[in-house]
Amino acid sequence: KKLIIINGPNLNLLGKRETNIYGNLTFMEFFDTVVKKYPNVALEHFQSNIEGELIDKIQEVGFSYDGIILNAAAYTHTSIGIGDAIKAITTPVVEVHISNTFSREEFRHQSYISPNAKGVILGFGLQSYELAIESFISS
Ligand code: DQA
Repeated sequence: KKLIIINGPNLNLLGKRETNIYGNLTFMEFFDTVVKKYPNVALEHFQSNIEGELIDKIQEVGFSYDGIILNAAAYTHTSIGIGDAIKAITTPVVEVHISNTFSREEFRHQSYISPNAKGVILGFGLQSYELAIESFISS
């Protein structure tokens, strides 16, 4: 299976950003262990702080990859453009969040990703990404 994790704004700061919410691990530390754990999965990672770059990447992979694991971070709650991009492609998208966005501020309860996602996994820390990978392996 060919999968890609796409991370949105500020997720490049994992490990030093609000560590009480997002933990102490950097994404690359986590990613390295996951790549080793799933040797049969061709797993890629892309991160950008720029909305249009995220849309470009979704369009680029969205007709050939087996799955997209998308944490659009703050754009989850604001981006009609990313929501439309997911609607436009054929590759299924699993929406992921590290934190339980429903236990946080009201503005995090809204998602432009969820209506067009295959499923949503949130609140399990970085393990949310792993659960998303598992969901693609078993489908
Ligand atoms: C997040 C939750 C978002 O509300 C927030 O803006 C993020 C990270 C998460 O993974 O928990 O940047 O997507």
